[in-house]
Amino acid sequence: MCGIVGYTGSQQAAPILLDGLKKLEYRGYDSAGIAILNDGAIKVDKVSGRIANLCELTEEGKKCPGTIGIGHTRWATHGAPTDTNAHPHLSNDGRFAVVHNGIIENYICLREELIGKGYHFDSETDTEVIVHLIEMYYRGDLRRAVIKTSARLSGSYALGVICTDKPDTICVAREASPLILGVGAGENYFASDVTALVANTRNAIYLDDGEFAEITPDGVTVFDPAGQTITKKISRITWDIEAAEKGGYEHFMLKEIIEQPRAVKATITPRIKDGKIVLDEIEWSREYLESINKIVITACGSAYYAGCAAKYTIEKLCRIPVSVELASELRYSDPLIDEHTLLIVLSQSGETADTIAAMKECKSRGARTLAIVNVVGSTIAKLADDTLYTWAGPEIAVATTKGYTTQVCVLYLVAVYIARTLDKLEDADYYHHLSSMLTLPKKVQEALDMNPKIPKMAKKYHATKSMFFIGRNTDYAIALEGALKMKEISYIHAESYAAGELKHGTIALIEEHQPVIALCCNTALMEKTLSNIVEVKARGAEVLAVAFKGNQEILSQADDVIFIPKIDTLFSAVVEIVPMQILAYYVAKENGCDIDKPKNLAKSVTVE
Ligand code: AGP
Repeated sequence: MCGIVGYTGSQQAAPILLDGLKKLEYRGYDSAGIAILNDGAIKVDKVSGRIANLCELTEEGKKCPGTIGIGHTRWATHGAPTDTNAHPHLSNDGRFAVVHNGIIENYICLREELIGKGYHFDSETDTEVIVHLIEMYYRGDLRRAVIKTSARLSGSYALGVICTDKPDTICVAREASPLILGVGAGENYFASDVTALVANTRNAIYLDDGEFAEITPDGVTVFDPAGQTITKKISRITWDIEAAEKGGYEHFMLKEIIEQPRAVKATITPRIKDGKIVLDEIEWSREYLESINKIVITACGSAYYAGCAAKYTIEKLCRIPVSVELASELRYSDPLIDEHTLLIVLSQSGETADTIAAMKECKSRGARTLAIVNVVGSTIAKLADDTLYTWAGPEIAVATTKGYTTQVCVLYLVAVYIARTLDKLEDADYYHHLSSMLTLPKKVQEALDMNPKIPKMAKKYHATKSMFFIGRNTDYAIALEGALKMKEISYIHAESYAAGELKHGTIALIEEHQPVIALCCNTALMEKTLSNIVEVKARGAEVLAVAFKGNQEILSQADDVIFIPKIDTLFSAVVEIVPMQILAYYVAKENGCDIDKPKNLAKSVTVE
């Protein structure tokens, strides 16, 4: 989704903005631009396509003198990804420039009103109404004009505004889109994401919805909607720069796949202390847990699939019904949720618009909310009653890997924690589960090391037009994520099916050489899945199976086998997904795809 940056200080602004925009590339975008204020005039440079085009146009920013500016990467929603629709947008009088992340839902009526008043529009964007409203409301006080403009907007926005009358000031505003201020010495910044700030400063102020700020080289001042100054805490950004860079790997995705043993360890190990699970961050009494009659997990995309994978573990251990709901559906479903529902919200970014909306809907019906998020200080983390962070570190590739596995890990911890608190686990089982979880980092490492042949398998399967992923129970949930990984980065049509469902329709699609990826790690259901493998093989399919090391039976049934180390089925998703990620990566590489930035996708989906 769109990314925004801003700088005011004593250095040349353009190279700093371009650098910040490059750090936001992973969010997904199709045009980019900067506006620099210099000698009383604003100069805008913007182009469709990659930031490299903008760097070329501006000679890496050298052609843009000035020490204050704003920048933007646009992910087209209203209007095609053209130069004209790219941000920043200028007011008719040329005195104001605006960058915007979010969607203005009432832009059509505002546009008509402004046209009626004589303003002309250059672009098809929803954003352009903002800059004309600011011009309309401006009476010499930029802050007031921005506050008045914001009061007219419905939807979501993180805004950065510069004005020729205020040669060193940027005014920003936030409503339902992330906005972070970077506090430096003699220079200050803003961005939609800390990754664009860490190279310059580690001191950050996270704006809340409805807040505004004025940023000058000497300081930042935050205001409420009435224009009253408010004091905000300065937080320390702990992510290091190397963690947000490729570190010698060809792609962020590969780096992030390989980082999983460390990420899983960082997420689990500190929460198992002295032989018990310690979730310092949450305060659930036994009475509260006894009052829950169901758990609803909501999320989008892979985070939703992480919920699907952990549902089995939670239900098995806690004996509480769990329903996993797509946030985009839940929000409009008039859900049966009350104070006896524990709502668990999963999100790597913590900024996914549908997930936030579903969460608000369920909160308003009385549910207590637990957020499992990766980005500290994100909207979902702030909205939740309780938050458990996945300590995965920055995830840059659009296709999530370590984000997914660490979400599943936290859900495993929550499952065992609730089951133990409710006396549903005997000592022996409890300690057995703790030690199974503590072995996960090692097992993930083994899953990485055991499969040097996957790149070769990718060469065999990459040219197919479609792939089926099949499995039962936990294997089915993992197949869902495996298929998503394959389709989003390799652009191969990939679908997952509960293996037992094949004969109810899908098997009609199986023909000679159709690749079927069969997940066979659910020991109790192995024989059943083997029967399904026989069925598809009888119709000509080529089967690539995923099974536990030592499973001899599978060798005689499948054409190819990927082995993973043996692990309790309750906790297998974290290990079993790893070869699926690697397979998708190498298939995409064979197909020459833009692995870290797949077409049409964005890392952080901040619009509905
Ligand atoms: C996964 O690879 C996707 N890029 C996508 O499905 C993602 O998981 C989804 O958009 C949810 O994002 P979130 O975890 O940041 O909320």
